[in-house]
Amino acid sequence: MPDNTQLIAHPLIQHKLSMMRSKDTNTQDFRTFLREISMLMGYEILRDLPTAEVEIETPLEKMKSRMLSGKKLCIVPILRAGNGFVDGLLQLVPAARVGHIGLYRDPKTLEAVEYYMKLPDDLANRLVIVADPMLATGHSAVAAVNLIKQAGGTDIKFLCLIAAPVGLKTFHAAHPDVPVFTAAIDRELNDHGYILPGIGDAGDRIFGTK
Ligand code: URA
Repeated sequence: MPDNTQLIAHPLIQHKLSMMRSKDTNTQDFRTFLREISMLMGYEILRDLPTAEVEIETPLEKMKSRMLSGKKLCIVPILRAGNGFVDGLLQLVPAARVGHIGLYRDPKTLEAVEYYMKLPDDLANRLVIVADPMLATGHSAVAAVNLIKQAGGTDIKFLCLIAAPVGLKTFHAAHPDVPVFTAAIDRELNDHGYILPGIGDAGDRIFGTK
């Protein structure tokens, strides 16, 4: 496994991902599993968030306790499949900002082409979680992180559900400073750039468009 990759293979995640992989799982259940996995993976990704001591008062007495401090969060789904991660992550951190990057894959070259971008102004002061369920060729992920860095982002993590070995290699070569969190590393890509065995087209499965 490449250095800056973290495989989050919790049994609950493995179970839910297997349910998502099955071609018999319908759109509604697919979305539910993805939202649940987003929360479980978000829990891992955010485990090094800084906290600070604060004083609070329980109904019985004052105490010192800890609350989140420091950098705020920005979730950046890569359209459209990355949107599937947003609800679950926002349930964990409701105050997070959400940016969007729209990229489509040129079907011939498989290169990523930008068609939309909207990010908060203060990206430099935020932990940025870039989310896309499938890290396939890695081209979209590399392009999205390029755009985020150009917009001032420095503290960036990449979240996906399934990565292909070639995608991980391409991504880490371009962005060695950005850790990748994935629930699975699959075998290979087919001739159309789909991950095998994979889950099929993540966008179609989330939005029920096929
Ligand atoms: N995008 C998808 O939706 N699925 C894949 O397998 C690869 C890229």
